[in-house]
Amino acid sequence: MPNNTHQQTEFPPLEHPPYHVGIIMDGNGRWAKAHGKSRFEGHKAGTDNLRQILESSVEFGVKMLTIYAFSTENWKRPPFEVMGLMRILEEVIDRELKALHKNGVQLRHIGRLERLKPGIRKKVLHAIEMTKNNNKLILNVAFNYGGRQEIVDAVQRVIEDKIAPQDITEELLSSYMYTANCPDPDLIIRTSGEFRTSNFLIWQAAYAEYYITPTYWPDFNKAEYYQALQSFGQRDRRYGGRNE
Ligand code: FPP
Repeated sequence: MPNNTHQQTEFPPLEHPPYHVGIIMDGNGRWAKAHGKSRFEGHKAGTDNLRQILESSVEFGVKMLTIYAFSTENWKRPPFEVMGLMRILEEVIDRELKALHKNGVQLRHIGRLERLKPGIRKKVLHAIEMTKNNNKLILNVAFNYGGRQEIVDAVQRVIEDKIAPQDITEELLSSYMYTANCPDPDLIIRTSGEFRTSNFLIWQAAYAEYYITPTYWPDFNKAEYYQALQSFGQRDRRYGGRNE
């Protein structure tokens, strides 16, 4: 029996896959501790796990994925861990860019690039430029990202652009966010069981559905991803209104 027939029975096509999924990839540290490994190894395992989630996104019909890789608050971690996460970002670009490009992934960045080392910044900008016409999957990497910071940056630019108060609408503010031109996330997945937003897409997630699982990020696999997407398909999204 051909392989894909087997896959199709295991993961039947979803009727209502979310267009845009955000993921808070939490629990790398706890996963590492549980396996007697270093936190750095935990982050590496978390990074390796991204591959199956990217591939599954394409297979399951998700068009846009936003991953929370480094928050503005993560600078408070010990310098060794911060350096490790920077190194991982650089290595991922060096190692995976060609394959991502070949597979039609469009890379974007949300957050502030300024505080990153010039070498990493250059690689991120190169990756964005190289993949800008791809359309199989849009991957927004939130790196040095903070939702409040994003709102502050947006307001500063609105003022710089001398927008009149009466012209300030939700649509206008959305267009000043890092995610301008991205539809709001439909589903936000948070691994490792914490019930909080941690400053992730706080403007955009006003009507997002949440899926929270105790699974640590490195163990969050294709089957559970499917389950999360399936549970989204069963939600009754009312956006504050009523579905009679
Ligand atoms: C949270 O786990 C995870 C992070 C702070 C970093 C997530 C980053 C990756 C998975 C890799 C980055 C990927 C790219 C593309 C650069 P935690 O350390 O807070 O875990 P804990 O709460 O169990 O300690």
